[in-house]
Amino acid sequence: MDYATFYRRSIDDREAFWAEQARLIDWERPWDQVCDNSNPPFTRWFVGGRTNLCHNAVDRHLAARAQQNALIFVSTETGTERIYSYAELHREVQTMAATLQSLGVKQGDRVLLYLPMIPEAAFAMLACTRIGALHSVVFGGFASVSLASRIDDAEPTVIVSADAGSRGGKVVPYKPLLDEAIRLAEHKPAKVLMIDRGLSPFERVAGRDEAYADWRERHRQAQVPCAWVDATHPSYTLYTSGTTGKPKGVQRDTGGYAVALASSMKHIFLGNPGETYFSTSDIGWVVGHSYIIYGPLIAGMATIMYEGLPIRPDAAIWWSLVEKYKVTSMFSAPTAVRVLKKQDPAALKKHDLSSLRALFLAGEPLDEPTAQWIAESLGKPIIDNYWQTETGWPILTICNGIEPAPSKFGSPGKAVYGYDVQLVDESTGQELTGANQKGVVVIKGPLPPGCMQTVWRDDARFVKTYWSSIPGQQVYSTFDWGIRDEDGYFFILGRTDDVINVAGHRLGTREIEESISSHPAVAEVAVVGVADQLKGQVAMAFAVLKDPSVAATPEAALKLEGAIMKLVDEQLGAVARPARVRFVGVLPKTRSGKLLRRAIQAVCEQRDPGDLTTIEDPTALQQIKDLVQG
Ligand code: PRX
Repeated sequence: MDYATFYRRSIDDREAFWAEQARLIDWERPWDQVCDNSNPPFTRWFVGGRTNLCHNAVDRHLAARAQQNALIFVSTETGTERIYSYAELHREVQTMAATLQSLGVKQGDRVLLYLPMIPEAAFAMLACTRIGALHSVVFGGFASVSLASRIDDAEPTVIVSADAGSRGGKVVPYKPLLDEAIRLAEHKPAKVLMIDRGLSPFERVAGRDEAYADWRERHRQAQVPCAWVDATHPSYTLYTSGTTGKPKGVQRDTGGYAVALASSMKHIFLGNPGETYFSTSDIGWVVGHSYIIYGPLIAGMATIMYEGLPIRPDAAIWWSLVEKYKVTSMFSAPTAVRVLKKQDPAALKKHDLSSLRALFLAGEPLDEPTAQWIAESLGKPIIDNYWQTETGWPILTICNGIEPAPSKFGSPGKAVYGYDVQLVDESTGQELTGANQKGVVVIKGPLPPGCMQTVWRDDARFVKTYWSSIPGQQVYSTFDWGIRDEDGYFFILGRTDDVINVAGHRLGTREIEESISSHPAVAEVAVVGVADQLKGQVAMAFAVLKDPSVAATPEAALKLEGAIMKLVDEQLGAVARPARVRFVGVLPKTRSGKLLRRAIQAVCEQRDPGDLTTIEDPTALQQIKDLVQG
């Protein structure tokens, strides 16, 4: 079918279109209504239908592929390689589910996962959706303050964690950070389920901490049936950063998400049952949820879960896995490709990559040199896709599974079926219909299946944040700038808000500012994202000190900078650490006191800061200019 027709039908004949896609998954009870949009923007998909995410990811495949590979775990950190067939995965998930139930977890409860990339993370996610509990995975790279705020928002009954992760051969203990987070949090989980990898000794809190090894023994043969839940039952929450310091819990449904993933595996990611999928992301991010765990498993594929760096033991490690497991679709981020590019280019030629159909990249802008290099080195199609934690699956890409179409360098492609993507003027809200006009990328409701239902326990914030930022229009804002060319290809030009993207990791500058401000020497701080060749962006901090004399000499300034970075590491995690913390006498603000972040960013990137007529003290920007250019 031609893509234009397929796309038009998804918008113009929405109900019939999605009813067809819904046949890709199993339902215990069919829906009464495909799309209920009577209370926008709170869209409900497949109302009246009952299904289960874990059933669709695991149990459904037992009849045809019980002995086929489901989860392939590879850790180059611990030297472990372990394959779970669908039957074994089914066994492990039930054991984990029975354990969670024994620890008091019930349908609708939250279970917070603070875990490295280990098979138990997959078991725990699937165990939660199996029993209708919501998982809330917190990225293992986050530290205690980030974790504490997520614990308080999710209010989990149980936290599942591990003694440690490992990165580049270095053990990274998790337990002390978790203990500190629980101490900081107001909400105290009833139980902490600990997976002991034997990497780092830890202290047990009596009455609270449980050893998974013991429970696993006890529940080795447990039978835990899937709980059929309403299609609209929330399956999970996942925290993401926005304009304010407080992270938002993106809440996802069950039925719509399963349908969207099943459909995207077929039409976008070219995945067939019995084949192997390899996504290099982490379960702490949305790509890990959708395309390490649920998407590939729903499609009946084997999914590779990889713990380790892309360049250790050498830059060929990923390609050796492609060859060994005959990977057909691979998903990564531009940053990882840029890291590989700096290594031995011959690494790509050492292995037989004939099984691979395409490499999918997402999470940050794909620059042309990187795209060109990897396309030429691999000799395979490179397919960029643009989306967000909020949407759960791609908004823009090339749907080669429907109709193969060329990619354009620098563009993630066209609007994906189901998404009515538009560009609007930021200040007037008017739709921009002409070619090559720059505007805010918005989606006209209803959002398609799979997208966020609301902000966890904060409907008002969902409406206010996402659906009220464009004047005069109730449309969903992505908070990205974009343009669309005459052929309908979009180009993404960066965020309109205070979110930055460091090595594909989405971070809120406000969270980093809050952390830096908690240092006793700091009076005020501004953090901006600055373009970086390798990481896409890095965070740059400019701080005003309470007493400037404490950083009077270059040595003292460097020492204080180090102390502040350490504080950010401890509170938020090294992912949020700014590349530099510089000290200034005053920050550039408008006369009404608003920080001129865009101007700071422009100066750091050696661009024209634009209209500065409202600036209170022009010397403030000059100070920053002198620092970054000096
Ligand atoms: O700014 C866009 C950028 O990453 C943001 C979403 O990040 P996150 O919630 O972590 O979800 C990542 C899911 C892949 C977007 O608002 N972004 C994501 N993909 C692209 C991108 N920017 C340019 N090109 C992309 N392909």
